Amino acid sequence: MLTNSQLQAQWMPFTGNRQFKQDPRIIVGAEGCYLHSDDGRKILDSLSGLWCCSFGHGRPEIAEAIAKQAKTLDYAPQFQFGHPGAFQLAERVRDLTPAGLDHVFFTNSGSESADTAIKMARAYWRLKGEPAKTRLIGRVKGYHGVNVGGTSVGGITPNRKMFGPMMEADHLSATLLPENRFSRGLPPHGLHLADQLEERIALHDPSTIAAVIVEPMSGSAGVIVPPEGYLQRLRAICDQHNILLIFDEVLTGFGRTGADFGATLFNVQPDIMTLAKNITNGAVPMGAVVASSEVYEAFMHGDTPAYIPEFAHGYTYSGHPLACAAGLAAMDVFEKDKMADRAAAMAPYFEEQVHRLADLKHVVDIRNLGMAAAIQLAPHPKEAARRPWEIAMRCWKKGLYVRFTADSLQLGPPFIIERDQVDTICSILEETIPEVD
Ligand SMILES: Cc1ncc(COP(=O)(O)O)c(C=O)c1O
Repeated sequence: MLTNSQLQAQWMPFTGNRQFKQDPRIIVGAEGCYLHSDDGRKILDSLSGLWCCSFGHGRPEIAEAIAKQAKTLDYAPQFQFGHPGAFQLAERVRDLTPAGLDHVFFTNSGSESADTAIKMARAYWRLKGEPAKTRLIGRVKGYHGVNVGGTSVGGITPNRKMFGPMMEADHLSATLLPENRFSRGLPPHGLHLADQLEERIALHDPSTIAAVIVEPMSGSAGVIVPPEGYLQRLRAICDQHNILLIFDEVLTGFGRTGADFGATLFNVQPDIMTLAKNITNGAVPMGAVVASSEVYEAFMHGDTPAYIPEFAHGYTYSGHPLACAAGLAAMDVFEKDKMADRAAAMAPYFEEQVHRLADLKHVVDIRNLGMAAAIQLAPHPKEAARRPWEIAMRCWKKGLYVRFTADSLQLGPPFIIERDQVDTICSILEETIPEVD
């Protein structure tokens, strides 16, 4: 049992600290699709932690690789020196990502990946002799983490409103449309929303725009799936105006959509791709930014001496040996156990079961793609965000961990989930959603 002093000592992230500390929900172990709570219960994990333990908790191969690495090389500086694991993992990631995305820059999180990608895009244009190309275009309801760049291009209102002006950025509309409610997979309407990019470009002029950044599928805002043809259209417009396209694949990377990457599923090639989460199956913090050869080569052909860093950017823990060991073991699991195929095979059943909740009280929309789904609820008349919170708290007591935001419940279970576990998630939700006021 934690003491009150311990509970008060931690300022928790993205948490209602005051409520949590009155009613703590403490996880002390995890295995497969389950979390173990401190009161001895097995709790079904319907979000793979935070979308990051998608190959199942407690993979022994990953744990052993981390332990072995800690005993051999705990840390190595990566500024002007290096260690084998980082190069080996970079090669694995390069070989998995779509051809043409060839150079991997390591970070420690999705947020760092987003900010790294933004800086990379801006520096790229400076090196190409177009220093005015600095502006970024993101999307309403987009999530690119919580650092200054990612917050600026992101479009989740509560994440922005406390902090005042950050980096200048413009935003496309979200692709949520009433006529797409309860779509399964790709929604049919909304391709025209990609044409807003033309308007933004006309407003700012292409000479001032460095890049467009979007998630192939918005996860954190509640599984917003792009309309048919939308990402292809963004790519075409970026090409036409000489603007880089960044795909934030922190959540979609390594199988979540049923394909290796969103870029693979939609057959759209970004210039820069950001990754994190599943890269180590959540076991050690790590992120990565994968750049095209065109971007990388622009840095390598500058006019500075060869020993001067071409990209003045990096983190103490970029390519940390423990993260690389975890990453190499996670990539083995991903490939050997065909994790993306497993997600694709379970996705139709998952879709069917989740959409059976459509007629429940409070449910106003359900969206899904691959092994991701969101159930959107009508706001409570007095306290808009109350319902998802109350439902998630009741689920926890019944043995289900479900992620909630202000207006939705989100599901992203591990790809190793079995049908009866999908049934359990859905039956607990079916019982609990109508229970609340
Ligand atoms: C698309 C996307 N980008 C960035 C992030 C931020 O990642 P992190 O929390 O590791 O900084 C997330 C996290 O959910 C994400 O889904």
